Amino acid sequence: MAEIILPPKDFKKKAVIQDETFYEQGQDIETFWAERAKMLKWDQKWDQVLMRDPPYYKWFLNGKINASVNCLDRWITPGDKDKIAYIWEGEMGEVRKYTYEELYTEVNKFSNVLKNLGVKKGDIVSIYMPVIPELPIAMLACARIGAPHSVVFAGFSAESLRDRMEDAESKFLITVDGYYRRGKVLKHKQKSDEAVDKLDVSKVVVVKRGGNDITMVPNRDYWWHDLMAEADEYCTPEEIDSEDLLFLMYTSGTTGKPKGVMHSTGGYLTGVLTTMKWVFDLRDDDIYWCTADIGWITGHSYMVYGPLVAHSTSILYEGSPDYPSPARWWEIIEKYKVTILYTAPTAIRMFMRWGAQWLEKHNLKSLRLLGSVGEPINPEAWLWYYRHVGNNACPIVDTWWMTETGMQMITPLPGILPLKPGSATRPFPGVAVEIRGPSGALPPGEKGDLVITQPWPSMLRGLYKAPEKYKEEYWGKYGPEAFFTGDGAIMDQDNYLWLLGRIGDVLNVAGHRLGTAEVESALVDYPLVTEAAVVGIPDEIKGQVPFAYVSLAAGVEPSDDLKDKLMKHVSKIIGPTARPKDILFSDDLPKTRSGKIMRRVLRNLATKEEIGDITTLSNPEIVQVIRERLDKKA
Ligand code: PRX
Repeated sequence: MAEIILPPKDFKKKAVIQDETFYEQGQDIETFWAERAKMLKWDQKWDQVLMRDPPYYKWFLNGKINASVNCLDRWITPGDKDKIAYIWEGEMGEVRKYTYEELYTEVNKFSNVLKNLGVKKGDIVSIYMPVIPELPIAMLACARIGAPHSVVFAGFSAESLRDRMEDAESKFLITVDGYYRRGKVLKHKQKSDEAVDKLDVSKVVVVKRGGNDITMVPNRDYWWHDLMAEADEYCTPEEIDSEDLLFLMYTSGTTGKPKGVMHSTGGYLTGVLTTMKWVFDLRDDDIYWCTADIGWITGHSYMVYGPLVAHSTSILYEGSPDYPSPARWWEIIEKYKVTILYTAPTAIRMFMRWGAQWLEKHNLKSLRLLGSVGEPINPEAWLWYYRHVGNNACPIVDTWWMTETGMQMITPLPGILPLKPGSATRPFPGVAVEIRGPSGALPPGEKGDLVITQPWPSMLRGLYKAPEKYKEEYWGKYGPEAFFTGDGAIMDQDNYLWLLGRIGDVLNVAGHRLGTAEVESALVDYPLVTEAAVVGIPDEIKGQVPFAYVSLAAGVEPSDDLKDKLMKHVSKIIGPTARPKDILFSDDLPKTRSGKIMRRVLRNLATKEEIGDITTLSNPEIVQVIRERLDKKA
């Protein structure tokens, strides 16, 4: 029987949402979400809430709404404009604060910069930046002029940026000269150049952050500060349709190529605003800190659009959690009196390893709510977070969602639901899910696939230039009215949901999604490799990590040196997250008679689980050979 933790009495009494009937009201999704959408500022009201043409859904049809106006202009009133929107801290300790009015001015100016560079409504602008204030400023400026942004996580490689820009046919890039990581300046512009030099890119805007030497290409590259110095202070916002594309976010799927998840405007803002307020129990005086990177969906929804559309004050931190010491986060919480902390299980497990002594010297009493996102949180990490960070007094909202959902989908409402460590509890009001097996919905206690059975406003609208993949990947397995999440889950007797991680060929490494096919294609890209199979194995800190099996070209001898080169190659092609934990060389890999590599067998070999049936293999003898080699390694 799982432990049950009740919300503290005082918390419950003051909670923003205390009305349990919202769960019931949420069953009528159209009325429920239309009511929530009214919290936004619409330039023109919608004339239909929802259009269903499975698997295509549209929300708030013919409504007109500009995201930048909702995040900024509506707060430019005498009472609201002086509130701090962002407190940014650089890794080296510098601090910048932006009131809503200051942010508004910067966004207006940068909107004019973009227009002067030739960016038009509908053009996709790529952004490749660390967490510095210019990143949300650039995103909101894009939103203001109706140019969808495609933010690529700064830790990704030049190749990853190039692939994404190529797929999006993006002609504009906003980047930085360099940025800080563990006290060193990373040469970011060089990486950006490697990507854009081979593409037809017309303009690159560079923020000066690292101060490192860079090359500027005439008539293509411009300094942010030069352009801003000449920009006008007001830019009329474009008229945006509710269904217009707000952004693309590339994420890993089952093939080697990342897919561009499309998010539109009105429904997305409705979803992130409602969850921002209800899940985080947001109040006017909260100091909210989400430790993610803006380059992921978490950062888009809960560091930029959610917090600003809710008129809250957020912390942005540029650097590593352990620089200059593992006390950095706790110093930040103490210094700014952070009240809400939203982070990932991987980070919590890292802090567990470093030890509670790093927290004990700091006053964390300002905290009143904790959040978790990105991967399943094991009860042990949950309880450590509750005890050591929350001082046994802060509810934890374990929020399940994904790039495609845009907003939190399964999560407690912290003033209402009793918590069970390790369970994301129940679907948010207005969200309907089921656990499915081949013969239909499964009863409590049975493991199955997590599917979403009703449309929701912030759902993806498609995959950029890949309509077939959209249908097949999400709506193929259970039909066009049940969104297949790709996650396994189980429901307990109290109807609480327990997430079991990704099913199949997508890994979750430290909360980052990674397709095994992506890692395989990076490995076979290396000239001496003929074949590669990648599987996920459990990791104490990161949850899961890739493990690779590699076959080499005839005559090539395996060696530690080659292994090292392959690891570096994967890091270079995709980014350090994708680096395999280990590589096993094998002349042959277990295959079916039709020549398909049996990854299930390889996964079970790597994790030392039962291999199961191998009668369908064309080369069953290889299983024993690989097993012996793995045993020798261990
Ligand atoms: O497996 C689930 C896991 O992260 C996947 C989505 O990854 P991504 O699109 O990168 O978005 C991450 C941030 C929202 C999901 O398919 N996941 C996310 N949150 C949780 C989770 N698994 C368990 N519990 C969670 N709270």
